Amino acid sequence: MLWALSVTDNAVMLVDCAGRVTLANAATRALAERVESGAAPEYLLNLLPKDAWTLACQSGSWHGDITTPSGVLLAIALHHDEQAGPAGHAGMVRSFVTFDDLSARNGRERELQLRHDELQNTYRRLAGTQEQLLQSEKMASIGQLAAGVAHEINNPIGYVHSNLGTLQEYIGALFALVEAHEAALQSADPAACREEVRGKRDRLDIDFIIGDLPKLLAESREGIERVTKIVHDLKDFSHTGRDEAMRPSDLHRGLESTLNIVWNDLKYKVRLEKHYGELPLVECHQSEINQVLMNLLINAGQAITERGSIVIATGAESGEAWISIADSGCGISPDALQRIFEPFYTTKPIGRGTGLGLAIAYSIVAKHHGRIEVTSTPGAGSAFRVVLPVVQPRDAEGA
Ligand SMILES: Nc1ncnc2c1ncn2[C@@H]1O[C@H](COP(=O)(O)OP(=O)(O)O)[C@@H](O)[C@H]1O
Ligand SMILES: [Mg+2]
Repeated sequence: MLWALSVTDNAVMLVDCAGRVTLANAATRALAERVESGAAPEYLLNLLPKDAWTLACQSGSWHGDITTPSGVLLAIALHHDEQAGPAGHAGMVRSFVTFDDLSARNGRERELQLRHDELQNTYRRLAGTQEQLLQSEKMASIGQLAAGVAHEINNPIGYVHSNLGTLQEYIGALFALVEAHEAALQSADPAACREEVRGKRDRLDIDFIIGDLPKLLAESREGIERVTKIVHDLKDFSHTGRDEAMRPSDLHRGLESTLNIVWNDLKYKVRLEKHYGELPLVECHQSEINQVLMNLLINAGQAITERGSIVIATGAESGEAWISIADSGCGISPDALQRIFEPFYTTKPIGRGTGLGLAIAYSIVAKHHGRIEVTSTPGAGSAFRVVLPVVQPRDAEGA
Protein backbone atom coordinates (compact mmCIF):
# COMPACT_ATOMS: atom_id res chain seq x y z
CA MET A 1 0.00 0.00 0.00
CA LEU A 2 2.69 2.47 0.99
CA TRP A 3 4.76 1.45 -1.99
CA ALA A 4 1.82 2.14 -4.25
CA LEU A 5 1.50 5.64 -2.77
CA SER A 6 5.12 6.36 -3.52
CA VAL A 7 4.85 5.50 -7.20
CA THR A 8 1.45 6.91 -8.12
CA ASP A 9 1.20 10.28 -9.91
CA ASN A 10 -1.80 11.20 -7.76
CA ALA A 11 -1.14 13.44 -4.80
CA VAL A 12 -2.11 11.40 -1.68
CA MET A 13 -1.66 12.19 1.99
CA LEU A 14 -2.37 10.14 5.15
CA VAL A 15 -3.41 12.01 8.30
CA ASP A 16 -3.51 10.60 11.81
CA CYS A 17 -6.11 11.01 14.54
CA ALA A 18 -4.28 14.09 15.84
CA GLY A 19 -4.60 15.79 12.44
CA ARG A 20 -0.89 15.38 11.67
CA VAL A 21 0.46 14.29 8.30
CA THR A 22 1.93 10.81 8.66
CA LEU A 23 2.70 10.34 5.02
CA ALA A 24 2.75 12.59 1.95
CA ASN A 25 3.80 10.96 -1.27
CA ALA A 26 6.19 12.50 -3.79
CA ALA A 27 3.33 13.82 -5.92
CA THR A 28 1.91 15.67 -2.90
CA ARG A 29 5.29 17.18 -2.06
CA ALA A 30 5.75 18.30 -5.64
CA LEU A 31 2.23 19.75 -5.70
CA ALA A 32 2.80 21.71 -2.46
CA GLU A 33 6.02 23.10 -3.91
CA ARG A 34 4.23 24.05 -7.11
CA VAL A 35 1.33 25.73 -5.31
CA GLU A 36 3.56 27.74 -2.99
CA SER A 37 7.30 27.81 -3.40
CA GLY A 38 9.02 26.15 -0.40
CA ALA A 39 5.72 24.92 1.08
CA ALA A 40 5.51 21.60 2.92
CA PRO A 41 2.60 19.13 2.36
CA GLU A 42 0.92 20.47 5.54
CA TYR A 43 0.34 23.70 3.64
CA LEU A 44 -2.13 21.82 1.41
CA LEU A 45 -3.90 20.35 4.41
CA ASN A 46 -4.36 23.82 5.93
CA LEU A 47 -6.22 24.92 2.79
CA LEU A 48 -9.14 22.67 3.79
CA PRO A 49 -12.07 24.60 5.29
CA LYS A 50 -12.70 23.80 8.96
CA ASP A 51 -16.10 22.24 8.38
CA ALA A 52 -14.55 19.77 5.93
CA TRP A 53 -13.34 17.68 8.86
CA THR A 54 -16.67 17.88 10.66
CA LEU A 55 -18.58 16.89 7.52
CA ALA A 56 -16.14 14.05 6.81
CA CYS A 57 -16.60 12.79 10.40
CA GLN A 58 -20.37 12.74 9.88
CA SER A 59 -20.61 11.21 6.44
CA GLY A 60 -17.27 9.47 5.96
CA SER A 61 -15.97 11.78 3.27
CA TRP A 62 -15.82 15.33 1.96
CA HIS A 63 -15.17 16.60 -1.54
CA GLY A 64 -14.55 20.15 -2.63
CA ASP A 65 -12.72 22.46 -5.01
CA ILE A 66 -10.41 25.08 -3.55
CA THR A 67 -8.47 27.87 -5.16
CA THR A 68 -5.11 28.43 -3.44
CA PRO A 69 -3.84 31.97 -2.73
CA SER A 70 -1.53 31.52 -5.75
CA GLY A 71 -4.55 30.81 -7.94
CA VAL A 72 -4.25 27.04 -8.44
CA LEU A 73 -7.57 25.18 -8.55
CA LEU A 74 -7.44 21.96 -6.52
CA ALA A 75 -10.06 19.23 -6.23
CA ILE A 76 -9.67 17.76 -2.74
CA ALA A 77 -11.19 14.54 -1.42
CA LEU A 78 -11.06 13.70 2.28
CA HIS A 79 -11.91 10.15 3.41
CA HIS A 80 -12.39 9.64 7.09
CA ASP A 81 -12.26 6.39 9.04
CA GLU A 82 -14.22 6.83 12.29
CA GLN A 83 -13.14 3.38 13.52
CA ALA A 84 -9.42 4.22 13.36
CA GLY A 85 -9.19 5.54 16.90
CA PRO A 86 -10.21 8.41 19.16
CA ALA A 87 -9.64 11.90 17.84
CA GLY A 88 -6.47 13.51 19.04
CA HIS A 89 -4.68 10.18 19.22
CA ALA A 90 -1.43 10.49 17.33
CA GLY A 91 -0.03 7.70 15.19
CA MET A 92 -3.23 6.00 13.96
CA VAL A 93 -4.05 6.83 10.37
CA ARG A 94 -7.52 8.20 10.31
CA SER A 95 -7.85 10.20 7.06
CA PHE A 96 -6.86 9.75 3.51
CA VAL A 97 -6.66 12.95 1.48
CA THR A 98 -6.19 13.27 -2.29
CA PHE A 99 -5.41 16.44 -4.24
CA ASP A 100 -6.09 16.83 -7.92
CA ASP A 101 -4.56 19.86 -9.66
CA LEU A 102 -7.48 20.92 -11.87
CA SER A 103 -5.58 23.93 -13.24
CA ALA A 104 -2.89 21.66 -14.61
CA ARG A 105 -5.45 19.22 -15.89
CA ASN A 106 -7.44 22.04 -17.55
CA GLY A 107 -4.18 23.25 -19.08
CA ARG A 108 -3.46 19.78 -20.40
CA GLU A 109 -6.99 19.47 -21.73
CA ARG A 110 -6.69 22.86 -23.42
CA GLU A 111 -3.39 21.74 -24.92
CA LEU A 112 -5.00 18.50 -26.12
CA GLN A 113 -7.95 20.40 -27.55
CA LEU A 114 -5.53 22.72 -29.34
CA ARG A 115 -3.62 19.77 -30.80
CA HIS A 116 -6.88 18.15 -31.79
CA ASP A 117 -8.01 21.34 -33.56
CA GLU A 118 -4.65 21.60 -35.32
CA LEU A 119 -4.92 17.99 -36.48
CA GLN A 120 -8.42 18.56 -37.72
CA ASN A 121 -7.33 21.64 -39.67
CA THR A 122 -4.46 19.69 -41.21
CA TYR A 123 -6.85 16.88 -42.08
CA ARG A 124 -9.23 19.33 -43.73
CA ARG A 125 -6.38 20.92 -45.68
CA LEU A 126 -5.15 17.49 -46.79
CA ALA A 127 -8.63 16.44 -47.84
CA GLY A 128 -8.87 19.68 -49.85
CA THR A 129 -5.49 19.01 -51.48
CA GLN A 130 -6.50 15.47 -52.32
CA GLU A 131 -9.69 16.76 -53.91
CA GLN A 132 -7.65 19.28 -55.95
CA LEU A 133 -5.26 16.54 -57.04
CA LEU A 134 -8.19 14.41 -58.11
CA GLN A 135 -9.60 17.27 -60.08
CA SER A 136 -6.31 18.24 -61.75
CA GLU A 137 -5.53 14.65 -62.71
CA LYS A 138 -8.97 14.37 -64.24
CA MET A 139 -8.45 17.60 -66.15
CA ALA A 140 -4.99 16.43 -67.26
CA SER A 141 -6.51 13.23 -68.64
CA ILE A 142 -9.22 15.19 -70.41
CA GLY A 143 -6.47 17.52 -71.65
CA GLN A 144 -4.69 14.51 -73.16
CA LEU A 145 -7.94 13.56 -74.82
CA ALA A 146 -8.83 17.08 -75.90
CA ALA A 147 -7.59 16.63 -79.47
CA GLY A 148 -9.64 13.46 -79.84
CA VAL A 149 -12.72 15.04 -78.28
CA ALA A 150 -12.34 18.08 -80.53
CA HIS A 151 -12.22 15.74 -83.51
CA GLU A 152 -15.32 13.90 -82.32
CA ILE A 153 -17.13 17.22 -82.07
CA ASN A 154 -15.73 18.63 -85.31
CA ASN A 155 -16.87 15.71 -87.41
CA PRO A 156 -20.62 16.09 -86.84
CA ILE A 157 -20.31 19.88 -86.81
CA GLY A 158 -18.64 19.56 -90.22
CA TYR A 159 -21.45 17.62 -91.85
CA VAL A 160 -24.19 19.61 -90.14
CA HIS A 161 -22.55 22.69 -91.63
CA SER A 162 -22.40 21.19 -95.10
CA ASN A 163 -26.00 19.94 -94.76
CA LEU A 164 -27.10 23.48 -93.92
CA GLY A 165 -25.55 24.66 -97.21
CA THR A 166 -27.47 21.99 -99.14
CA LEU A 167 -30.67 22.81 -97.27
CA GLN A 168 -30.29 26.45 -98.30
CA GLU A 169 -30.11 25.39 -101.96
CA TYR A 170 -33.16 23.11 -101.55
CA ILE A 171 -35.17 25.90 -99.96
CA GLY A 172 -34.21 28.22 -102.83
CA ALA A 173 -35.56 25.64 -105.30
CA LEU A 174 -38.75 25.11 -103.31
CA PHE A 175 -39.36 28.87 -103.14
CA ALA A 176 -38.83 29.11 -106.91
CA LEU A 177 -41.46 26.38 -107.43
CA VAL A 178 -43.92 28.14 -105.07
CA GLU A 179 -43.40 31.34 -107.08
CA ALA A 180 -44.08 29.49 -110.37
CA HIS A 181 -47.31 28.11 -108.86
CA GLU A 182 -48.40 31.55 -107.71
CA ALA A 183 -47.65 33.11 -111.08
CA ALA A 184 -49.69 30.37 -112.77
CA LEU A 185 -52.63 30.90 -110.39
CA GLN A 186 -52.66 34.62 -111.02
CA SER A 187 -52.49 34.26 -114.83
CA ALA A 188 -55.69 34.56 -116.94
CA ASP A 189 -55.56 30.88 -117.84
CA PRO A 190 -53.85 28.84 -115.08
CA ALA A 191 -54.40 25.55 -116.94
CA ALA A 192 -52.26 26.82 -119.81
CA CYS A 193 -49.32 27.25 -117.40
CA ARG A 194 -49.39 23.63 -116.26
CA GLU A 195 -46.65 22.48 -118.64
CA GLU A 196 -44.40 25.37 -117.75
CA VAL A 197 -44.74 24.66 -114.02
CA ARG A 198 -44.11 20.95 -114.58
CA GLY A 199 -40.98 21.80 -116.60
CA LYS A 200 -39.73 24.04 -113.79
CA ARG A 201 -40.36 21.31 -111.25
CA ASP A 202 -38.23 18.88 -113.29
CA ARG A 203 -35.44 21.42 -113.79
CA LEU A 204 -35.34 22.16 -110.04
CA ASP A 205 -35.13 18.42 -109.30
CA ILE A 206 -37.93 18.75 -106.76
CA ASP A 207 -38.59 14.99 -106.56
CA PHE A 208 -34.99 14.39 -105.51
CA ILE A 209 -35.17 17.22 -103.00
CA ILE A 210 -38.36 15.79 -101.45
CA GLY A 211 -36.64 12.42 -101.03
CA ASP A 212 -33.36 13.85 -99.71
CA LEU A 213 -34.68 16.50 -97.33
CA PRO A 214 -35.87 14.22 -94.49
CA LYS A 215 -32.57 12.27 -94.66
CA LEU A 216 -30.56 15.48 -94.48
CA LEU A 217 -32.56 16.75 -91.51
CA ALA A 218 -32.30 13.42 -89.67
CA GLU A 219 -28.54 13.29 -90.23
CA SER A 220 -28.12 16.87 -88.99
CA ARG A 221 -30.24 16.21 -85.93
CA GLU A 222 -28.14 13.12 -85.19
CA GLY A 223 -24.95 15.19 -85.54
CA ILE A 224 -26.20 17.84 -83.14
CA GLU A 225 -27.31 15.14 -80.71
CA ARG A 226 -23.87 13.57 -80.85
CA VAL A 227 -22.20 16.90 -80.05
CA THR A 228 -24.67 17.54 -77.24
CA LYS A 229 -23.93 14.09 -75.85
CA ILE A 230 -20.16 14.58 -75.88
CA VAL A 231 -20.47 17.97 -74.23
CA HIS A 232 -22.82 16.45 -71.67
CA ASP A 233 -20.37 13.60 -71.00
CA LEU A 234 -17.54 16.09 -70.61
CA LYS A 235 -19.65 18.03 -68.12
CA ASP A 236 -20.26 14.77 -66.24
CA PHE A 237 -16.51 14.49 -65.87
CA SER A 238 -15.69 18.00 -64.81
CA HIS A 239 -18.39 17.78 -62.15
CA THR A 240 -16.73 17.27 -58.73
CA GLY A 241 -19.69 15.87 -56.80
CA ARG A 242 -17.54 16.30 -53.69
CA ASP A 243 -20.22 17.33 -51.24
CA GLU A 244 -23.00 15.25 -52.67
CA ALA A 245 -24.14 11.95 -51.27
CA MET A 246 -23.42 8.82 -53.29
CA ARG A 247 -26.36 7.98 -55.52
CA PRO A 248 -27.60 4.72 -57.04
CA SER A 249 -26.03 4.92 -60.50
CA ASP A 250 -26.15 3.06 -63.80
CA LEU A 251 -22.56 1.89 -64.37
CA HIS A 252 -23.30 0.92 -67.98
CA ARG A 253 -24.34 4.47 -68.71
CA GLY A 254 -21.11 5.66 -67.06
CA LEU A 255 -19.12 3.24 -69.22
CA GLU A 256 -20.83 4.39 -72.40
CA SER A 257 -20.27 8.09 -71.75
CA THR A 258 -16.64 7.40 -70.80
CA LEU A 259 -16.16 5.41 -74.00
CA ASN A 260 -17.64 8.32 -75.89
CA ILE A 261 -14.88 10.57 -74.61
CA VAL A 262 -11.94 8.19 -75.05
CA TRP A 263 -13.20 6.60 -78.25
CA ASN A 264 -11.33 8.80 -80.66
CA ASP A 265 -8.03 7.74 -79.08
CA LEU A 266 -8.94 4.08 -79.40
CA LYS A 267 -10.94 3.67 -82.57
CA TYR A 268 -8.07 3.39 -85.04
CA LYS A 269 -6.18 0.63 -83.26
CA VAL A 270 -8.62 -1.11 -80.96
CA ARG A 271 -11.27 -3.69 -81.61
CA LEU A 272 -13.76 -3.22 -78.78
CA GLU A 273 -15.74 -6.11 -77.38
CA LYS A 274 -18.47 -5.59 -74.82
CA HIS A 275 -19.92 -8.34 -72.66
CA TYR A 276 -22.32 -6.46 -70.43
CA GLY A 277 -24.09 -8.52 -67.79
CA GLU A 278 -27.03 -7.53 -65.61
CA LEU A 279 -26.04 -4.70 -63.26
CA PRO A 280 -28.15 -3.28 -60.46
CA LEU A 281 -27.87 0.46 -59.75
CA VAL A 282 -24.67 0.89 -57.76
CA GLU A 283 -24.40 3.46 -54.99
CA CYS A 284 -21.51 5.70 -55.97
CA HIS A 285 -20.24 9.08 -57.10
CA GLN A 286 -20.79 8.43 -60.80
CA SER A 287 -18.36 11.09 -62.03
CA GLU A 288 -15.58 9.62 -59.87
CA ILE A 289 -16.24 6.09 -61.08
CA ASN A 290 -16.20 7.45 -64.64
CA GLN A 291 -12.77 8.88 -63.87
CA VAL A 292 -11.60 5.42 -62.78
CA LEU A 293 -12.98 3.83 -65.97
CA MET A 294 -11.44 6.57 -68.10
CA ASN A 295 -8.01 5.98 -66.54
CA LEU A 296 -8.27 2.23 -67.11
CA LEU A 297 -9.41 2.70 -70.71
CA ILE A 298 -6.66 5.22 -71.47
CA ASN A 299 -4.05 2.88 -69.97
CA ALA A 300 -5.44 -0.05 -71.97
CA GLY A 301 -5.30 2.00 -75.16
CA GLN A 302 -1.76 3.18 -74.43
CA ALA A 303 -0.63 -0.40 -73.76
CA ILE A 304 -1.60 -1.32 -77.32
CA THR A 305 0.96 0.00 -79.79
CA GLU A 306 -0.15 -1.30 -83.16
CA ARG A 307 -3.48 -3.08 -83.17
CA GLY A 308 -5.24 -4.97 -80.42
CA SER A 309 -8.43 -5.55 -78.55
CA ILE A 310 -10.08 -4.28 -75.41
CA VAL A 311 -12.73 -6.46 -73.81
CA ILE A 312 -15.10 -4.80 -71.37
CA ALA A 313 -17.19 -7.11 -69.24
CA THR A 314 -19.57 -6.41 -66.36
CA GLY A 315 -21.47 -8.46 -63.85
CA ALA A 316 -22.79 -8.63 -60.32
CA GLU A 317 -22.75 -11.24 -57.61
CA SER A 318 -23.04 -11.43 -53.81
CA GLY A 319 -23.89 -7.77 -53.37
CA GLU A 320 -20.98 -6.60 -55.52
CA ALA A 321 -20.85 -5.22 -59.05
CA TRP A 322 -17.74 -5.56 -61.20
CA ILE A 323 -16.40 -4.06 -64.37
CA SER A 324 -13.39 -5.60 -66.03
CA ILE A 325 -11.29 -3.96 -68.74
CA ALA A 326 -8.87 -6.35 -70.40
CA ASP A 327 -6.42 -5.38 -73.12
CA SER A 328 -4.14 -7.31 -75.43
CA GLY A 329 -1.37 -4.77 -74.86
CA CYS A 330 2.23 -4.94 -73.66
CA GLY A 331 1.42 -6.35 -70.20
CA ILE A 332 3.13 -5.50 -66.89
CA SER A 333 6.22 -7.21 -65.45
CA PRO A 334 5.86 -8.74 -61.97
CA ASP A 335 8.20 -6.06 -60.54
CA ALA A 336 6.25 -3.20 -62.07
CA LEU A 337 2.99 -4.81 -60.94
CA GLN A 338 4.05 -4.13 -57.32
CA ARG A 339 4.33 -0.43 -58.05
CA ILE A 340 1.61 0.58 -60.53
CA PHE A 341 -0.67 2.04 -57.82
CA GLU A 342 2.11 4.23 -56.39
CA PRO A 343 1.59 7.93 -57.06
CA PHE A 344 3.93 9.19 -59.80
CA TYR A 345 5.00 5.69 -60.85
CA THR A 346 4.99 5.77 -64.64
CA THR A 347 6.81 4.01 -67.45
CA LYS A 348 5.59 6.54 -70.01
CA PRO A 349 7.37 9.58 -71.42
CA ILE A 350 6.56 13.03 -70.03
CA GLY A 351 3.36 14.39 -71.50
CA ARG A 352 1.90 10.93 -71.94
CA GLY A 353 1.93 9.72 -68.35
CA THR A 354 1.60 11.42 -64.96
CA GLY A 355 1.78 8.24 -62.90
CA LEU A 356 -1.31 9.40 -61.07
CA GLY A 357 -4.07 7.59 -62.95
CA LEU A 358 -4.03 4.33 -61.04
CA ALA A 359 -3.14 5.95 -57.70
CA ILE A 360 -6.23 8.10 -57.98
CA ALA A 361 -8.36 5.23 -59.29
CA TYR A 362 -7.25 3.22 -56.25
CA SER A 363 -8.20 5.95 -53.79
CA ILE A 364 -11.57 6.55 -55.45
CA VAL A 365 -12.40 2.84 -55.37
CA ALA A 366 -11.18 2.52 -51.77
CA LYS A 367 -13.44 5.44 -50.82
CA HIS A 368 -16.30 3.44 -52.29
CA HIS A 369 -15.30 0.43 -50.16
CA GLY A 370 -14.38 -1.50 -53.28
CA ARG A 371 -11.16 -2.90 -54.74
CA ILE A 372 -9.20 -3.10 -57.98
CA GLU A 373 -7.80 -6.48 -58.99
CA VAL A 374 -5.11 -6.81 -61.65
CA THR A 375 -3.75 -9.72 -63.60
CA SER A 376 -1.17 -9.32 -66.31
CA THR A 377 1.02 -11.38 -68.58
CA PRO A 378 3.98 -9.49 -70.03
CA GLY A 379 3.69 -9.44 -73.79
CA ALA A 380 0.10 -10.70 -73.78
CA GLY A 381 -1.99 -8.12 -71.97
CA SER A 382 -3.53 -7.00 -68.69
CA ALA A 383 -6.93 -7.13 -67.06
CA PHE A 384 -8.13 -4.64 -64.47
CA ARG A 385 -11.26 -5.45 -62.52
CA VAL A 386 -13.06 -2.84 -60.43
CA VAL A 387 -15.30 -4.37 -57.76
CA LEU A 388 -17.78 -2.14 -55.92
CA PRO A 389 -20.35 -2.92 -53.25
CA VAL A 390 -23.83 -2.32 -54.67
CA VAL A 391 -24.82 -0.59 -51.43
CA GLN A 392 -22.35 1.37 -49.32
CA PRO A 393 -21.96 0.31 -45.66
CA ARG A 394 -24.46 2.60 -43.92
CA ASP A 395 -22.32 4.13 -41.18
CA ALA A 396 -19.33 4.69 -43.49
CA GLU A 397 -20.97 6.46 -46.40
CA GLY A 398 -19.08 9.62 -47.35
CA ALA A 399 -16.29 8.86 -44.89
N1 LIG B 1 -3.27 -1.70 -69.11
C1 LIG B 1 -1.97 -1.55 -68.83
N2 LIG B 1 -1.04 -2.24 -69.56
C2 LIG B 1 0.27 -2.12 -69.29
N3 LIG B 1 0.78 -1.32 -68.32
C3 LIG B 1 -0.08 -0.61 -67.59
C4 LIG B 1 -1.49 -0.69 -67.79
N4 LIG B 1 -2.08 0.11 -66.90
C5 LIG B 1 -1.09 0.66 -66.17
N5 LIG B 1 0.11 0.25 -66.57
C6 LIG B 1 1.42 0.61 -65.99
O1 LIG B 1 1.20 1.29 -64.79
C7 LIG B 1 1.83 2.57 -64.81
C8 LIG B 1 1.03 3.55 -63.99
O2 LIG B 1 -0.22 3.80 -64.58
P1 LIG B 1 -0.94 5.16 -64.26
O3 LIG B 1 -1.01 5.31 -62.78
O4 LIG B 1 -2.22 5.19 -65.02
O5 LIG B 1 0.05 6.25 -64.77
P2 LIG B 1 0.41 6.67 -66.26
O6 LIG B 1 -0.58 6.00 -67.17
O7 LIG B 1 0.26 8.15 -66.25
O8 LIG B 1 1.81 6.21 -66.47
C9 LIG B 1 1.92 2.91 -66.28
O9 LIG B 1 2.95 3.83 -66.53
C10 LIG B 1 2.19 1.54 -66.90
O10 LIG B 1 3.55 1.19 -66.77
MG1 LIG C 1 -2.65 6.25 -66.87
